[in-house]
Amino acid sequence: MIVIEIRKLAIEDVSDFVKLRKLASTESEWATAVDEDRAKVILESSSTTDSDVWYGAFEGKKLVGAAHFSVHKQADTVGIGNLMVLKSHQGQGIASLFKATAESIAERNGISKLALYVDVTNKKGLAIYKKWGFQRGKETIVEMTMPVFLTPVKVAATENAIYGNW
Ligand SMILES: CC(C)(COP(=O)(O)OP(=O)(O)OC[C@H]1O[C@@H](n2cnc3c(N)ncnc32)[C@H](O)[C@@H]1OP(=O)(O)O)[C@@H](O)C(=O)NCCC(=O)NCCS
Repeated sequence: MIVIEIRKLAIEDVSDFVKLRKLASTESEWATAVDEDRAKVILESSSTTDSDVWYGAFEGKKLVGAAHFSVHKQADTVGIGNLMVLKSHQGQGIASLFKATAESIAERNGISKLALYVDVTNKKGLAIYKKWGFQRGKETIVEMTMPVFLTPVKVAATENAIYGNW
């Protein structure tokens, strides 16, 4: 069994963050790389707010996964973005820890739903989100090359209709 710590990423994590995203992007078409300058901006901004934050999953000092969370009070949602776990560490519940993190951010902010976009051809992602109770929402990002769905889920209840082909 491995011990994983989930914590907010800080500017000091920038080079590990760049490395993680680079490796993850070579392992999966659903993970994107980021250059160091952009990563600095992202993590600086993440460390100065509670509404637009990056968290990392650490096995000891090694960063093995990351996810972005955005708080949308008006839409009553916490958005999950850029969820990625290194292949070597997949299937061990790390994404589920990030989901729990999103739930706790939602609770802290009095928000009742989680939301995310996923490419409809990302079969594993869709299977996981479906297992978690995510269902297709009303919004679609039409400008993207692949169809994607916003999939809101109530943190403490289950409602929402499913759209689309899982
Ligand atoms: C998607 C991804 C983040 C999952 O990370 P992970 O750490 O392996 O996931 P977990 O081990 O936490 O599994 C999450 C849940 O899905 C379940 N699960 C895992 N693989 C599954 C599969 N192939 N089908 C259905 N359910 C699955 C697990 O049982 C677990 O359920 P639980 O929370 O009820 O226990 C990881 O595969 C990844 O980084 N993929 C590449 C990038 C990507 O696709 N990101 C998502 C973009 S929207």
